[in-house]
Amino acid sequence: MKKRSPSPLKNKNLLLGVTGSVAAYKAVELARRLRDEEADVRVIMTSASLNFITPLSLHLASRQKQKPISSLWEEPLAHVNLASDADLFIVAPATANTLSRMALGIADDMLTACFMAFAGKTPPAPAIVAPAMNPAMYGNPAFRRNLEFLKTGLGVVEIPPEEGALACGTAGTGRMAAVEKIVDAARNALVEKDFQGLRVLVTAGPTREPIDPVRFISNRSSGRMGFALAKAAASRGADVVLVSGPGTISPPEGIGKFIRVETTAQMEKAVLEEIKHARLLIMAAAPADFTPEETFSKKIIKSSRYNLKLKETPDILLGVSRLENKNKKRPFTVGFSAETGPEVGRAREKLRKKGLDMIVFNDVTKPGAGFDCETNEVTIITRGKGRVDIPLMDKRDIAHAILDSVLAQKNLSQNLDF
Ligand SMILES: Cc1cc2nc3c(=O)[nH]c(=O)nc-3n(C[C@H](O)[C@H](O)[C@H](O)COP(=O)(O)O)c2cc1C
Repeated sequence: MKKRSPSPLKNKNLLLGVTGSVAAYKAVELARRLRDEEADVRVIMTSASLNFITPLSLHLASRQKQKPISSLWEEPLAHVNLASDADLFIVAPATANTLSRMALGIADDMLTACFMAFAGKTPPAPAIVAPAMNPAMYGNPAFRRNLEFLKTGLGVVEIPPEEGALACGTAGTGRMAAVEKIVDAARNALVEKDFQGLRVLVTAGPTREPIDPVRFISNRSSGRMGFALAKAAASRGADVVLVSGPGTISPPEGIGKFIRVETTAQMEKAVLEEIKHARLLIMAAAPADFTPEETFSKKIIKSSRYNLKLKETPDILLGVSRLENKNKKRPFTVGFSAETGPEVGRAREKLRKKGLDMIVFNDVTKPGAGFDCETNEVTIITRGKGRVDIPLMDKRDIAHAILDSVLAQKNLSQNLDF
């Protein structure tokens, strides 16, 4: 059974503003997902939105005692009280009309009056908007100016609309962002920024060692674990540099610097360059351990007999641990040990031999763990300390658990000058 780590949205007060867009029905799924994260969700509907969706659907999805509110005159002072209690204000879908009115400081309905009180409070709290509209409306200069002011003047985070077919029969940029993207942004807005300002270097994915122009040696790593770590660290305020081998999944957004490499030698070069500025290094990549002794510039033809001779690739972690011997600053270093059995002995040995501060062991033969899947089950082993077993969870939750373990290390304060 998959476990979950507590969501940053747990027990937080969220306001969900829903406006008069054809995408209003998607707010039902959004409210349901935010409740899954154990947030308290109070829905505010504009009167135009009532033409697209019933308050009943949103009431059910938000699983709240109170019904969605749409009039300023229903509950006296609700606009001020809701704003003052809220940890996060989300407007999704957000029409051109409501976004413009929010930017201009108009407060003549429940949603805009509440936003007016929310955006002016001290200390400030985060707000997220997910515009949905016809591409021409989205491109309108008056609207662009208003949206720009919301972002730069009021610090509102926009989850930009996506490209695709639209209800108005056209295609272009205007579809509301995917619900999961909005939930992710909400989590990021409220997660503790305990890695603020720290440069974190993460490696991800496999590497490829070319045999000829069409063939290579590689492994089953997808990059998901490293990408999840990079994303988790960035959401906690880190300045992340992600060095990744080739893969089929898209790298996460919000990363400070993304470096794509092909071979283990290229990954080593990038790591040794970027490490100079990093305070934490997480080597989640699975670099190929062998490379052909000879690489051919032309395709080897099928009929020929060919014995592939291999040599070892550079050991990146060993190179990193040597930095310390050369009196160079080495960041707190986390390695990974993918094994095909439950024994952690080899991982402990790797921790010691390569001078790591922490190693994350996983048995790739376990169902739902290891390469090319969304979940993982790991054991975190630290130098001179015991072990922490992390049960089967989404790689996102595993990533946060690893970062929590890093922060819990006493010697981190020396290595990272926290
Ligand atoms: C069928 C229909 C669909 C609409 N879809 C959108 C939309 O997706 N985005 C938008 O900005 N406006 C859309 N509008 C226009 C808004 O509903 C209109 O500007 C309204 O005043 C918005 O009110 P509100 O911002 O208070 O919800 C649509 C109008 C109609 C009739």
